[in-house]
Amino acid sequence: MHPDLQKILLTENQIRSRVTEVAKQVDKALSGKRPVAVGILKGSIIFYADFIRCLTVPLELDFMAVSSYGAGSVSSGKLKIRKDLDGDVRGRDIVVIEDIIDSGFTLACLKKLLTERGAASVTIVTLLDKHERRTEDIKPDYNCFEIPDEFVVGYGLDYNEEYRSLPYIGILKRSVYEK
Ligand code: IMP
Ligand code: MG
Repeated sequence: MHPDLQKILLTENQIRSRVTEVAKQVDKALSGKRPVAVGILKGSIIFYADFIRCLTVPLELDFMAVSSYGAGSVSSGKLKIRKDLDGDVRGRDIVVIEDIIDSGFTLACLKKLLTERGAASVTIVTLLDKHERRTEDIKPDYNCFEIPDEFVVGYGLDYNEEYRSLPYIGILKRSVYEK
């Protein structure tokens, strides 16, 4: 285990089997469609790569990078798009693939944006859900794991751009971010 971690929350095996299980459900629900899988950079990349390889529906891949200023921010723009999609979503079935839903602010904004742009449907798939912290009225359509209110890293998730390449998900020691 990485020395900055307090404990491993989800092992490689746990992640693999649950991601496969959820992907099969999504695949079934999307049967007959040709969806666009939208990955939210950078946190979702490892989940995204594992997840889409379990789908059998024909798929287009696209990516967005956003940063949220949070509900308490003075900014009225709120969600900042740092990299937009390459393709047009009008009339398309969109599957948003995200690492974690926390306050729900990011996904609530994204869902609204994609709907306004004319997407035929928006399905939200998250790897992790910190449901205790939700402030926005949004629920992922599919979630792999409910987790406690702790800061987690690994399998794509970072703290200051570190730990993304760990193959498992662990709780970061408080001493790492409180120093
Ligand atoms: P929300 O807009 O509050 O739902 O925030 C979601 C975003 O916050 C995620 O996409 C992550 O980038 C980040 N985030 C929230 N909790 C964690 C965590 O425990 N570890 C790493 N990133 C997190
Ligand atoms: Mg993110």
